[in-house]
Amino acid sequence: MSGFPKVENYFLPLNKIKATNLHFILNEKEVKPLPSEAETVLDYIRSVQNLKGTKIGCREGDCGACTILVGDLQDGSVRYRSMTSCLMPLVNAHGKHIVTVEGVNFPDRLNLVQQAMADSGATQCGFCTPGFVVSLAGYCLSNQDATKENAIAAIDGNICRCTGYKSIERATDIINEQLKGKNDPIEFVVKNKILPEYFSEIKEKLQQISEETKSLIEIIKRPEAANKFFVGGGTDLYVQRHGDMKEDNSFLFNRRELNFISKEKNTCFLGPAVTVSDLRTSEIITTAIPQFQNFSKLVSSTPIRNMATIAGNFVNASPIGDFSIFFLALDAQIELDSIEKKRTIPLRKFYKGYKQLDKTLDEIISRISFELPSKNTYLNFEKISKRTHLDIASVNTAICLNIENGIIQKAGLSAGGVGPIPMFLEKTSTYLQGKKINNDTISGAIETMKTEISPIGDVRGSAAYKTLLLEQLIKAHLMPLLNN
Ligand SMILES: Cc1cc2nc3c(=O)[nH]c(=O)nc-3n(C[C@H](O)[C@H](O)[C@H](O)COP(=O)(O)OP(=O)(O)OC[C@H]3O[C@@H](n4cnc5c(N)ncnc54)[C@H](O)[C@@H]3O)c2cc1C
Ligand code: FES
Ligand code: FES
Repeated sequence: MSGFPKVENYFLPLNKIKATNLHFILNEKEVKPLPSEAETVLDYIRSVQNLKGTKIGCREGDCGACTILVGDLQDGSVRYRSMTSCLMPLVNAHGKHIVTVEGVNFPDRLNLVQQAMADSGATQCGFCTPGFVVSLAGYCLSNQDATKENAIAAIDGNICRCTGYKSIERATDIINEQLKGKNDPIEFVVKNKILPEYFSEIKEKLQQISEETKSLIEIIKRPEAANKFFVGGGTDLYVQRHGDMKEDNSFLFNRRELNFISKEKNTCFLGPAVTVSDLRTSEIITTAIPQFQNFSKLVSSTPIRNMATIAGNFVNASPIGDFSIFFLALDAQIELDSIEKKRTIPLRKFYKGYKQLDKTLDEIISRISFELPSKNTYLNFEKISKRTHLDIASVNTAICLNIENGIIQKAGLSAGGVGPIPMFLEKTSTYLQGKKINNDTISGAIETMKTEISPIGDVRGSAAYKTLLLEQLIKAHLMPLLNN
């Protein structure tokens, strides 16, 4: 997770491209599909490999029926994360262990998760069940403690329309009972016959093919036309532009040299392939921003967080993009690279209008940097949506204050859903600077905020409602600081 990539690597000229086969492990066997064989992992496993256990529900990352596990080598062990195969480019499977519901089966009996689901009456039509089984198998394979909270969090991306969640929750109790004493998860699940034995051979197999992952570079080239894309996790692109996705885009997600979280003095650097889950498990982030776990729990679901990159969130430029809002408050800087030039701009200057960016088509976000909060920093993120989980915001907002002797020295306040872009509230931030936090300051901040937002009414609420929400959220930011 360190180092900084050379710019030429993003833009290999066309004549260097070879139709290299991808190479990964699918359940127990190694496969080498051509990148052109299928666009997504879902289509490959169902249509090419005829593994129909993985279901197609929404094809938009919402339902979890298509959940698979993706194992890769991390610090000498295999780490499994759940992902939605409907949004996962086939190219992103290169060098990984892909586990479908068939891959967690025993030939002659149900596995622990399947038995627990059956014993708890946790399935009716069964369409969503494979997704739940896979997510819970991933939970068994994870380093997480066996707690009810963790088990339920593991299935936060799976929707069941008919059975009801209580019986599924009861199944997690049975599973947790059997996970007591789990230390080395892979050894544990194999020894206790929770999952098939072949899982213990995956590490060696992945080590053997890991060298080849470097050859992925050969199918990466510069996006040269409007219909070529830089692809991160694909969680926006494969929803919004599914029909335009081709195997000759520039895939960033799988490239280790682009996945770094590092720190120099108090500045933190993120690579373009860093996902939300990478941030949630990074020691640098959890030490400096312990609340990040709670903030990011409000964003999408476990499988989507496992795929969604921070750079992708910035470039998607949704006016309610949660990480755009979070990093606007932190005054993040973005480095943009193209063959011709390299430049750094503040994220606060990146958004020019609805989905209009200060970025040319061939520029890539190659690095994100921001100052880590210090002991005088107050950082908060708030999001209101119709559902608590797996829902986009009606309004979201973040605040970053540097406070010394009760006086705000520096303020960064951002808000989404109240204008055509993710907004840095410059006037309100300036207003807060030099002020003590008291009721007058809060009222003044709210009045200033109203002069710089321009919400519109839509399915997420009327303009007046969104203004009221932001007013309440500014109180939620500042009221805990009263009397400090
Ligand atoms: C079910 C579901 C729930 C979601 N919930 C939320 C939510 O709660 N909050 C939220 O904010 N978002 C949510 N999203 C949106 C999405 O997950 C995020 O915006 C995510 O961070 C996008 O990252 P990605 O890597 O998947 O982007 P991609 O889809 O790969 O790319 C998005 C855009 O960024 C460009 N891009 C990617 N990386 C780079 C780079 N390094 N340089 C230049 N351009 C780049 C792509 O070309 C594309 O234009 C949700 C999506 C789904 C499917
Ligand atoms: S099909 Fe619904 S999440 Fe993939
Ligand atoms: S069992 Fe039918 S939708 Fe889940």
